[in-house]
Parts: sequence; structure tokens; C-alpha cells
Amino acid sequence: MAQEDAFKKIVSHCKEYGFVFPSSDIYDGLGAVYDYGQNGVELKNNIKQYWWQSMVLLHENIVGIDSAIFMHPTVWKASGHVDAFNDPLIDNRDSKKRYRADVLIEDQIAKYDEKIDKEVAKAAKRFGEAFDEAKFRATNPRVLEHTARRDALHKRYSDAMNAMDLDGLKQIILDEGIVCPISGTRNWTDVRQFNLMFKTEVGSTADGASTIYLRPETAQGIFVNYLNVQKTGRMKLPFGIAQIGKAFRNEIVARQFIFRMREFEQMEMQFFVKPGTEIEWFKRWKETRLKWHLALGFGEDNYRFHDHEKLAHYANAACDIEFRMPFGFKEVEGIHSRTDFDLKQHEKFSGKSIKYFDPETGESYTPYDIETSIGVDRMFLSVMCHSYCEEQLPGGETRVVLKLPAALAPTKLAVLPLVKKDGLPEQARAIMNELRFHFNCKYDEKDSIGKRYRRQDAVGTPYCITVDHETAGDGCVTLRDRDTMQQERVPVGKLRELLEDKVSITSLLKKLC
Ligand code: GAP
Repeated sequence: MAQEDAFKKIVSHCKEYGFVFPSSDIYDGLGAVYDYGQNGVELKNNIKQYWWQSMVLLHENIVGIDSAIFMHPTVWKASGHVDAFNDPLIDNRDSKKRYRADVLIEDQIAKYDEKIDKEVAKAAKRFGEAFDEAKFRATNPRVLEHTARRDALHKRYSDAMNAMDLDGLKQIILDEGIVCPISGTRNWTDVRQFNLMFKTEVGSTADGASTIYLRPETAQGIFVNYLNVQKTGRMKLPFGIAQIGKAFRNEIVARQFIFRMREFEQMEMQFFVKPGTEIEWFKRWKETRLKWHLALGFGEDNYRFHDHEKLAHYANAACDIEFRMPFGFKEVEGIHSRTDFDLKQHEKFSGKSIKYFDPETGESYTPYDIETSIGVDRMFLSVMCHSYCEEQLPGGETRVVLKLPAALAPTKLAVLPLVKKDGLPEQARAIMNELRFHFNCKYDEKDSIGKRYRRQDAVGTPYCITVDHETAGDGCVTLRDRDTMQQERVPVGKLRELLEDKVSITSLLKKLC
């Protein structure tokens, strides 16, 4: 299946099975805003729980907070967001459509990459086993030509972005002959800066309302609480503060479903360390975070680090963890060594001293910070993309199955009476009433057993049990595994012990230690 088709299917599956709906759907939706349905919210909560527990339960020196979305407006002046949280925008005069200039150019770079990949795929097919990809990439004239053009464009683009040279960005768009996908013309306006923060007002206008912002990241809520937590928790360096919460950005290019949203959720952890030790900690957090992703079992090949060449002025190291989405490798998480920039800025703008007294050395200093920042929604998307499968079954039938990691699945166990009579529903309910205290179970008695299995496959339920006419006599049920479709007879009394370890978040956490 072409990747584009696969992605479309995943998006419609999300809607059809109660994972993700467009926001305000009955009013035809609101751009780049989505709601999570009955299954989506369970999956999302499990992702958040996995992250939270991996941070706060598994690290004695990490604690959590939950700060407000509204913050004092000076916070965003201090953080640099008021002056510099901008995207370079360009309009097409014919279609009246607005685009991010950097995204137009990045798409152009991706086109060169696609051309190169196509040449490689063609040659691989032609030469079969004897194909030496590295040699082909290094010697094939067409690949070399595309690579040279791509690299030259990349260099020009990086230089223009580093210098925030808006005229330079426009010139690249003109020189590359990039056209508006709607009008097909090159009738572009100049590029200008656009701030991504949403503004609103607090207080009534009569008594002098003041402008405040919806937070564009949760991180600042941690920085402004650094002293509160350090003092009340008597925290000693190194220590971390974790937070999960909503963030808001007025994204202009909102596409790829929940990949880029205007209202989204972040899971961020700021780890405060002694100056001079930050690069060591940065490396440790890169490994720790990759391990967290790999524990889900999606395979090493689907992840890569992207180390930033261009660093923000406050960072001395930065990298992304990228995941192979159907539309290419994309950032899911960022790990940044942010130095002492944020705490120092808040010290300057608030006039309050934010220093750490080091009992070991007797010195006072501003701690350095390593940030790990992951989007819940992007994580959700990567889980859905990896788990969605269409399988051909013997007999020509196909099944759609979500091979979700069991610990993240919305429902862990479906309890199914074989028929709706002969006391089987009552027995099934009794089993369900016992097990639902331990994990999320669903009862279903409608339609044939085959149809019920398919329904559970489509929402990723890892196990189903069927109560049949033998159950009353032998005290056993049939346990069906979602992925293998194998069935085995197990005693009812053993179910909890058999399943709990496989479906709990603890099963994932154990892989991290
Ligand atoms: N505090 C650092 C920070 O916010 P970021 O790279 O801008 O860094 C961190 O965002 C993560 O938040 C990203 O890796 C991504 O997973 C998620 N994210 C950012 N913008 C998003 C958007 N518009 N929609 C969904 N997720 C987003």
C-alpha cells in the first residue's frame, strides 16, 4: 500500500473507531484542532501514564508539577517568545493562501531526497542481491547531480534561516521555481514574521484589561516554579521537574492530522544540573529517552537521532528523536541542553534571585538545564501509524488489526459469551466484574463471535475470552491472542495472573531498568 493511502486509512480508522474526531465535527471541524474519542482518550492516558511513571516513579530525583496555562505576561518576554517565537510566512497573491516559507523550501529539499531514493530503489530492483547501495550513491551521475542540488539548496536555506534573512528566503522560493499548490503560480508576496502565540485578555476592558498568552510550551511553568519546588522539596542537584499539559500555537501550516495542531499536549521534563556537567547529562538523557521509545517494540530502524547543527542562542546541544511516519522521518521529541538561559532570564525579569546553594562546594550558582520535550499527540500518531495493519487471512478474508503494545491498548480484555442465552452472559458478567478492578475490560454479546473478534482487533484489544457451554463445568474459558489469533483454554481463576503482567504499564517500565 502506498504510504499516502496508508496514512489516509489510519486517519479514517481513527474517526471510525472513536480514537480521534475533528473538533466541533457537527460544524465541519476547526482547522488543526482535534478531539479524542472513547478509545483515543484511553490510549492517550496510557501514553501519558507510561511517560509520567518512567520519569517520576523510576527516578528518585524527579518530581512532577501541574502549572497553570495562563502565566504572567512578563514570563513570555523573559523567555524570548514575545520577540522571537515567529514563523516566516509568505502569501500567494492568486490563491490568497498563506504558507510557511521554511516549509515550502523544506518540501523542495524533500523532493530531491525522493528523487535520490527513487533512483536507488530502481537500481536495487535491477541489480538484486549484488546491489551495493553505498557505492551506487557515491558514483551514480544522476544521484550525484540530485545530491549536489539538494546540498546547495540546504546550505542556502540554513544560511538564510540562521540570519533570519527574509528576502533571502523569498529569493530561494523564486529561484527554485516553487509554485503555490492551489493556484500553480509563482506570484508570491514578500516573506514576513508572524508570532505563533495566541493572545487573550484577563480582566474586563473597563478596568484596564491586560493581554496574556496561552502558553506555547509547558516548560516555562517549570522554570518559574524552580525555586518553589527546590525549596519545598529540599531538592539537591541534579534533579528534575516533570509536567504534562496543554500548549497552544497558532500554526499556519496545519497538516498531517494530529502531527501539527493548534492545541496540543506536551510532556516535558527539565533536569537541573551543575554547570559543566550538562553535556554528560545531555548524552545520558538522549539514551534514556531512546530506550523509552524502543521499549514499545516498534524496532530500532524506525527511530533516528537528528542532532541540530544550528543551535538556538541559549542552547549548547540539541537533538530530536525522529520516528518513521508514513510521510517520512519526523520529530517526535526534542532533547535540549538549554544552559542557564531560562533561569537567568527569569532572575533578570523578576528581580528575584534564582540560585542554588551547593552544600558540597559552598558556592551559589544558577543551575544548567537539560530538557526532554515530547508531544503526546505526535507520540499517539506514531503509535497508531505503527500499529495499523491490514492482514490477509487464509480463505481470502482480510482483517484490520491495531497491533498496539498491550500496555497502551485502550481495552485490555474483551469478555464475550459465546451465545446470548443458557446462562453464558451471567457467567461472563461475573468474570468481568472480578477483572475490571485490575484492568480495562469490555463486555460484548452482540453479533457472531467472529464479528466480535474483528471489532476488538480494530481497536487493538490484545486479548478476548469466550465463555462457552463448557465453562460452567470445567471453570475454563477460551483466551484468544489478537496478534497470533491463537486460542487456548485457561482456568478463569488464572486469568488475572496470566494477563496482568502483560498488559500493565509496569511491564513496559521493567524494560527500562
Ligand atoms: N519546550 C521545548 C519545546 O516546546 P518544541 O520542539 O517546540 O520544543 C516539543 O516542541 C515537542 O512538542 C515536539 O517535539 C512535538 O512533539 C511537540 N509539538 C510541537 N509543536 C506541536 C504542534 N503544533 N502540534 C503537535 N505537537 C507539537
